[in-house]
Amino acid sequence: MDIVEKVEELNIKNVESLSGKKVLLRIDVNISIGNNGIIDPGEDWRIVKSLRTIEFLRDSGASVIILSHIGRDKKETLKTVFDYMNNILTLGFIPSYDSKTIKHYISNMGKGSIVMMENVRQFEEEIRNDTSYLKDIIDLCDIYVNDAFSVSHREHASVNAVTKTMPSYFGLQFVNEINHLTEFLSHKDGIKILLLGGAKFGTKLMLLENMLPRLDYVLLGGALANVFLKARGFNIGKSFCDEIDISHIINNEKIILPIDYIDEHGDVASIDDVGDENTILDIGPDTIELFEKIISHSSSVMWNGPMGKYEDGYTEGSIQIAKTISYLDIYSLIGGGDTTTLIVENNLEDAFSFISTGGGAMLEFLVKGTLPGIEVILER
Ligand code: 3PG
Ligand code: MG
Repeated sequence: MDIVEKVEELNIKNVESLSGKKVLLRIDVNISIGNNGIIDPGEDWRIVKSLRTIEFLRDSGASVIILSHIGRDKKETLKTVFDYMNNILTLGFIPSYDSKTIKHYISNMGKGSIVMMENVRQFEEEIRNDTSYLKDIIDLCDIYVNDAFSVSHREHASVNAVTKTMPSYFGLQFVNEINHLTEFLSHKDGIKILLLGGAKFGTKLMLLENMLPRLDYVLLGGALANVFLKARGFNIGKSFCDEIDISHIINNEKIILPIDYIDEHGDVASIDDVGDENTILDIGPDTIELFEKIISHSSSVMWNGPMGKYEDGYTEGSIQIAKTISYLDIYSLIGGGDTTTLIVENNLEDAFSFISTGGGAMLEFLVKGTLPGIEVILER
């Protein structure tokens, strides 16, 4: 049996008689709210993707106890996310994990009711993969459901050790992720392209090395491209550049770099013409055309990381590429926080066959074909 079949076998959808059961549901609503403290259009996509499983459980008559993390600081709260969700569904918020509070609220939950717990990362135990802080909740619950694909590369209590405590299943979005990511991996016909941008090179380099033999082209943008440009002897001026050794793949002919760029004045120039004072902030029109030409001959594209400095508003290159993809009849997959937010903000979701909720998790799944949080459920 392959991973798709194994995961499907443990799809929560296949479990009969959820009515009256208490279900502990892990979702990932770790969203970036930005400096204004409110959830703006385009920032809510992880919430939206979580709704299907919550509504499925509710409509099946289960009582649903929701866990999630937000951010990496212990002090961060899910209250803003809860308020937003409470406008879509009816649910309660339990700010404290104290025994008495938990017993009082959770024991008295009726069929189809939903509560959300405060940020699991306020507890050290969570990241130590120790479920002791969840003990009172676990004692009251019958079934665990993981619908948090995007954090299942972490060996954290609420996506990992918790599966040892009760029968465990995958949520609807989780199953969807596995189906689509596997489909990209198993696409054999036609030209296969990886479009990589953004800044953080760590996991992306692993993905690049691992997938190169199976790909036809890798189109690079964002700060990732700067690393290759510099190594190929181009001046990159003041542009951001990770110190990372890529000497073993630098001359690989499948890797295509930008040929022009947008500088700090918004001007277009050839990539041969980066002065010491210039910064590369987006791909230029010739690069867009080159990338579009290659993509239009492909059969599948996987994209992670914006083509320009997204946080400073350099989104034009990414938007143009997304529009091109939207006109083509190809299998297209996108993932990563900034990339997805950019696409959703610009109403370009329909351009893609699938938008993964995962950033690091998606990359790790594509490299390894599984994740720790999947294995613990399959092993049960
Ligand atoms: C993500 O945003 O990629 C996931 O929610 C995981 O968050 P983390 O990188 O803080 O573990
Ligand atoms: Mg905001």
